[in-house]
Amino acid sequence: MVALPVTAREIPTDHETLVAEILRLKRERNAVLLAHYYQDAEIQDLADFVGDSLELARAAQRARAKTIAFCGVRFMAETAKILNPEAEVLIPDLEAGCSLEESCPPEAFARWRAAYPGAVAVTYINCSAAVKALSDIIVTSSSAEKIIRQIPRGETILFAPDRHLGSWLVRTTGRSMVLWPGTCIVHEQFSHKALVELKVEHPEAVVAAHPECPETILTLADHIGSTSSILRFVQESPASEFLIATEPGIIHQMERLAPGKRFISVPGSSGECGCNVCPHMRRNTLSNLYTCLRDGAPRLELPEELRLAALRPLQRMLDMSAAPLPAGD
Ligand code: 13P
Ligand code: SF4
Repeated sequence: MVALPVTAREIPTDHETLVAEILRLKRERNAVLLAHYYQDAEIQDLADFVGDSLELARAAQRARAKTIAFCGVRFMAETAKILNPEAEVLIPDLEAGCSLEESCPPEAFARWRAAYPGAVAVTYINCSAAVKALSDIIVTSSSAEKIIRQIPRGETILFAPDRHLGSWLVRTTGRSMVLWPGTCIVHEQFSHKALVELKVEHPEAVVAAHPECPETILTLADHIGSTSSILRFVQESPASEFLIATEPGIIHQMERLAPGKRFISVPGSSGECGCNVCPHMRRNTLSNLYTCLRDGAPRLELPEELRLAALRPLQRMLDMSAAPLPAGD
């Protein structure tokens, strides 16, 4: 269907016109649309690329479009700008933050680092550009284990800001690490009781969980990994029913890529509260994606000095996540 003409300041009210206008603006701006798995299904369906944090960082770095429209949270759009400064980086809502980023202000992080002279600061990508700039190596949940294994034994490792991901990495790598006490508000609150009840109700179901979940949830999981790893797991597993302990936005891709299988979202600790949905990720909507492409705002800008300082540990992440593991590790 042909899009109806819309006047400059109006947001189309019917879904079909809104989608057609987003696609038109995307073409006009020569924009590539990148989206995280936790976005609404309708945004994922419009995206040129949907991925986890590492895949999105790589996609942003190799993008040759004039504009990157980033449907995710602010630290992801910031990462895109750090890695691809030539591109104009737009984000539908600049207030789309992250509880992990909030838990780790750069001043407090700098004091914490200073208390461990000589330690290696390995920092989860879910942090501000300022904290990245103070770190040695950035990691994502899909790359952390491989990167930590490349750090020489005997080095003191600081890990911020997710203590659950950090504890899981201590268990999987056998390396001791000093952990920052941050948590993700979404993964932190998955209900152990509800998961046990679901397992009783669905005895054949297989549990897949993100390592941002507390250990009480992870001990019940058959598979633990990043969003992309969970997505691969449900496609490859012979099971037909899955209990999913991560943000339920990803279930859209599971249903698309593993049709005929059943995915049950593990609820939050207060039952049907919808608190397993990330309020930051869901700030992006088709309406503000439309206005952001129309107006070229909000636009992500970073002082060049800060960008260059944050680029160093991010580039280390990209290099170390692509490198072969040293023998014996
Ligand atoms: P990944 O997609 O890299 O697993 O990260 C999950 C997440 O919480 C992003 O904010
Ligand atoms: Fe941050 Fe958690 Fe939302 Fe991811 S799901 S953006 S870690 S608050």
